[in-house]
Amino acid sequence: MLNKINQAKKVLLGNRKKGYTLPTNNNLYPAQWNWDSGFIALGYSHFNLKYAFDEINTLLRGQWKDGMVPHILFHDLKTNYYPNHSVWNCGNKIKSSGITQPPVLAIILKKILDKSIIKDKEKIKSIIQKVKKYHQWLMKYRDPKNSGLVSILHPWESGYDNSPLWDGPLNAIKIEKNLKYKRGDNKVVNPDFRPLDIDYDRYVTIKNHLRKNKYNPKKLYETSMFNVVDVGFNSIFLKANKDLLYLLEKFNLKKKEIQKYLIKSENKIEKLYDKKRKSFINYDLKNNKKITVPSITNYFILFADLKNKSINNEIIQTLKKHNTKDNFFFSSIKPNYTRYEEKRYWRGPVWINCNWIIYQGLKDKDKKFAQIVRNKTIDLVKKNGFYEYFNTKTGKAYGAKNFSWTASLFLDLILEKKYN
Ligand code: DGY
Repeated sequence: MLNKINQAKKVLLGNRKKGYTLPTNNNLYPAQWNWDSGFIALGYSHFNLKYAFDEINTLLRGQWKDGMVPHILFHDLKTNYYPNHSVWNCGNKIKSSGITQPPVLAIILKKILDKSIIKDKEKIKSIIQKVKKYHQWLMKYRDPKNSGLVSILHPWESGYDNSPLWDGPLNAIKIEKNLKYKRGDNKVVNPDFRPLDIDYDRYVTIKNHLRKNKYNPKKLYETSMFNVVDVGFNSIFLKANKDLLYLLEKFNLKKKEIQKYLIKSENKIEKLYDKKRKSFINYDLKNNKKITVPSITNYFILFADLKNKSINNEIIQTLKKHNTKDNFFFSSIKPNYTRYEEKRYWRGPVWINCNWIIYQGLKDKDKKFAQIVRNKTIDLVKKNGFYEYFNTKTGKAYGAKNFSWTASLFLDLILEKKYN
């Protein structure tokens, strides 16, 4: 095991640039990604606290004046990535994309602070204030009606870009005429494992509309071509608000607004529970339609630690039927679903960050099952390497190799015990 732990550390160090870390060391993702960076910081915290905080501080250096933390920061401007910095054409101190990603930062920060001795409290306070500003941005602009649930305005904001969750809302979008762009991703990775061209046409159409509107968050909630309330994103945000509240209390900072909002979210998110299916569903606000795709991300609700024990128990029973008979779980989409695809990115394969999130949610609700998930996940990576995603039946690895969050979360799953 020591050997594997050292290999995981090497993956992170191998992908490290000045103050931040690439998701992988090939040309697929040549920038800093928001939620990747959070998971990466957690990995570093097990062997180099300075690097963990470098990762977080660099990400926050890219925060926009209004509070948004972008989904991509382009530190290196000369890459073949599409869409690159000039296509997005925005950013504050660092060129960036114009959208965000699941806000894991507060969760990661709490985890790191819980197990570390911190001398410079002022620096930590300043990080917490920036994270609070980010959460305030989400509350203000992604939930302008103060409903308790935030929207995502682009599939890339979910992080699970081509999930069948978005097929309905994306089908309703009219692709821009005469679109001209050149993908880079499918030159680096087998196109069979990547989103389709038609998906990209839609991603680019939405992106162009955001750019035309100068990424004005006030306008875009109403006018974006895509507006979905995603259970996965909202579960992460609820958990992040709970952890942020804890940090604000610990450091004697103002907490009322966050506290009020999270109470509202806790009540409102339960409305996305479908009693008949015994699972959570998403809502396409733009088209006023329910989304009932059996995605593993719907179980991120366990991570949000709802107080409602009966819902939690029912969800765990449904989760146990997701694909636990397969050699490796959890598949990103339930395999008997019509639009499941064994190899294609977020349409079927197993992702380590999903397993990690669900494991965190299960730990105090079903210890035995949590341990099975933990051991299976460690086993999958040990046997098949630090890849981006994996086949649920065979464990075969796909996508990028030396994938940072796989290495980071593998380290966390193995080493967290020391601190518990
Ligand atoms: C990609 O380029 O595939 C990323 O997931 C977009 O964020």
